[in-house]
Amino acid sequence: MTTTGAKPMGVEDEAAAARAVRQMFDSIAPRYDLLNHVLSANVDRLWWRRTARHFRAVLTDPDAAVLDICCGTGDLTMALLNHRPKGARAILAADFARGMLSRGAKKFGVRAAGAPYAVPLEADALHLPLRSESLDLVVTAFGFRNLANYAAGLLEFHRVLKPGGQLGILEFSEPGGLLGKAYALYFRRVLPAIGRLICGKDGPYNYLPASVGNFPRPAEMLELLRTAGYAECAWRPYTFGIAGLYTAKRAAIA
Ligand SMILES: C[S@@+](CC[C@H](N)C(=O)[O-])C[C@H]1O[C@@H](n2cnc3c(N)ncnc32)[C@H](O)[C@@H]1O
Repeated sequence: MTTTGAKPMGVEDEAAAARAVRQMFDSIAPRYDLLNHVLSANVDRLWWRRTARHFRAVLTDPDAAVLDICCGTGDLTMALLNHRPKGARAILAADFARGMLSRGAKKFGVRAAGAPYAVPLEADALHLPLRSESLDLVVTAFGFRNLANYAAGLLEFHRVLKPGGQLGILEFSEPGGLLGKAYALYFRRVLPAIGRLICGKDGPYNYLPASVGNFPRPAEMLELLRTAGYAECAWRPYTFGIAGLYTAKRAAIA
């Protein structure tokens, strides 16, 4: 069966799914960073940095228009900022959960005078308040999986990208083989228990493994990208395929 989008438990339609996701992230926002680093043993930092490095060429262009969508508490935004030259155009950092975004805004708000900076934007990834063909790079980390409609998300990113603009989607994946089995045990049993302990709630850290399990496998995700009109679609596994970076381009006009 093809997964069309995130389906938190008990929701019937896309509007309800989006509402449930937003409420869930708002509710875990105060503990999100701590949980992230504990549960991933800080490997998440490497993944954000690696993703930012991949897009170095566009990030070092001071005029490039860059969006970090589903920026949450802003760690990918911070990694992207490290590659921006002095005086560069601000990165747009957008999320629809105010509790997450306000924490991110605190991080990227504290910048030395003249240093590259980011601007927080409260916005839904499926309805971006941005002009068509206005961005050079759209990038997202661990947010895409939570969209209520993946195909609609890809089309919306395509709309706002300039011809030749680039897309990067960093997402979890499920590795195969023996390592995959051991990881599945950690991800499905240990992680929800630690999450429950730190955040005092059951739902969010049961949702995480369930949402990764339901997320399209790389071959299917690449097909979704091509169907949405992207060119040069690729997937690079990170850390034995526990996570991975999808990259694609909006075709340039010939
Ligand atoms: C797992 S967090 C990832 C945050 C951050 N990018 C990171 O790497 O830590 C997912 C984020 O996606 C946001 N999100 C999910 N669906 C969204 C949507 N439709 N529009 C905007 N943000 C959304 C959530 O509010 C949440 O902050």
